[in-house]
Amino acid sequence: MSTGLSAVAYIGATILFILSLGGLSNPETARRGNLYGIVGMTIAVLATVFGPRVTLAGIPWIVGAMVVGGSIGLVAAKKVQMTQMPELVALMHSLVGLAACLVGYASYVDTSIVFSGAEKAIHELEIYVGIYIGAVTFSGSIIAFGKLSGKISGKPMLLPARHALNGIGALVVIYYGYAFLQAHTPADGATALIVMTAIGLLFGIHMVMAIGGADMPVVVSMLNSYSGWAAAATGFMLSNDLLIVVGALVGSSGAILSYIMCRAMNRNFISVIAGGFGTGGGTVVAKADGQPAGEVTAISAVDTAELLRDAKNVIIVPGYGMAVAQAQHTVYEITKHLREKGVNVRFGIHPVAGRMPGHMNVLLAEAKVPYDIVMEMDEINADFPDTDVSMVIGANDIVNPSAEEDPTSPIAGMPVLEVWKAKTSIVMKRSMASGYAGVDNPLFYKDNNRMLFGDAKKMLDEVLAALKG
Ligand code: TAP
Repeated sequence: MSTGLSAVAYIGATILFILSLGGLSNPETARRGNLYGIVGMTIAVLATVFGPRVTLAGIPWIVGAMVVGGSIGLVAAKKVQMTQMPELVALMHSLVGLAACLVGYASYVDTSIVFSGAEKAIHELEIYVGIYIGAVTFSGSIIAFGKLSGKISGKPMLLPARHALNGIGALVVIYYGYAFLQAHTPADGATALIVMTAIGLLFGIHMVMAIGGADMPVVVSMLNSYSGWAAAATGFMLSNDLLIVVGALVGSSGAILSYIMCRAMNRNFISVIAGGFGTGGGTVVAKADGQPAGEVTAISAVDTAELLRDAKNVIIVPGYGMAVAQAQHTVYEITKHLREKGVNVRFGIHPVAGRMPGHMNVLLAEAKVPYDIVMEMDEINADFPDTDVSMVIGANDIVNPSAEEDPTSPIAGMPVLEVWKAKTSIVMKRSMASGYAGVDNPLFYKDNNRMLFGDAKKMLDEVLAALKG
């Protein structure tokens, strides 16, 4: 492929990626957005593999690597459960970080292109910065994977003088950056790179370990952004314009997403990165042993059906438990049934419900729930006082009143769906266990709240049967 054709293909792919991001911003156009992304990536890969910078001898290596990587990706994507998606994404971010590190080291030891003067300084700076971002992304994403999959505790690890430690680490990285640019021998340069990589890896671990469970959504989107910058840095090292543009697109969209997440959780971005939120705090934490911190009133599926049948306005609030139980199809059946009977059913979606951005929207769209009754938290929160029944399906942290009422709570200040303001709220979950943030939920003990204990899918099937019967 000629240089001109490859440049045209790269521009085409870039436009498709921008259209893809635009499409993904709305559930109705998301499918088209995905398609643009797939076509853009296919063009990008073909234009790179058959482009002017790959020799014929290199093609079998690339194809071999693609077959191995593609097969692993295919098996992983087929096997992974929807609820494990965030973990898979975290693992993938770590691979982008690892790739940036490896490309950085390869660029450093590659003697086929000799730079001099300012060009040499710029190239070395690209390598240094690229490896650093890659190392932070790699180790941070591995820890995020551990936390999201429950292999590492969600509790923040707060080292004494952690800010000072981070500050000293940053100074050492800057010092060795200077030493790297001034290095006279390859060995001196390599020493600086290795020290910086070690600090980058430690910083990534420390940064994510210090963040509490409740703030993990911000970390996931932040690492998404880092992986984009790591890819952009790789693009600079390889002088690949497309990789620079794509990396910048991922980096900036991840940064915007982090900002949106912070706003949704009423957090300051810098404070989240500094760590410490989501700690135990002053609130009694309900343990998974199921010991309640008050009296709760249980309700049966039949009585739930009766309340729903008699209601005029119903708001359903889905959470992570709906995803675990895969209850979205039954939720749709119940919604359809109630709407046919003239009940006004709507959905309230919290920005961090579930375990990844848009988690609930994806599940509801899959079950064919109409988009126009799926509302954002801000659109629907004021309507709870005029609601007869609010039905919470496998959600916990996002409907926790202590976020508003208890300033010592680890989730204090996070906006929540005010389900308790409805005439009756019904919470569906299996036990009294706490949610992701590990915080007790006073909603369960409110006078107008009822607990429908059991697996969400099983209980909703029973509710549906009672509604129809
Ligand atoms: P959670 O607070 O985690 O609560 C989910 C509840 O679902 C649990 O209390 C659990 O109680 C219940 N559950 C689990 N399996 C169930 C099943 N099969 N049937 C019925 N109930 C089931 O979820 P949420 O309210 O959606 O809040 C999200 C949390 O995750 C927030 O803290 C958020 O910060 C965090 N987070 C979000 C993201 C993103 S981007 N969305 C990423 C990382 C972390 P039982 O065990 O008693 O059933």
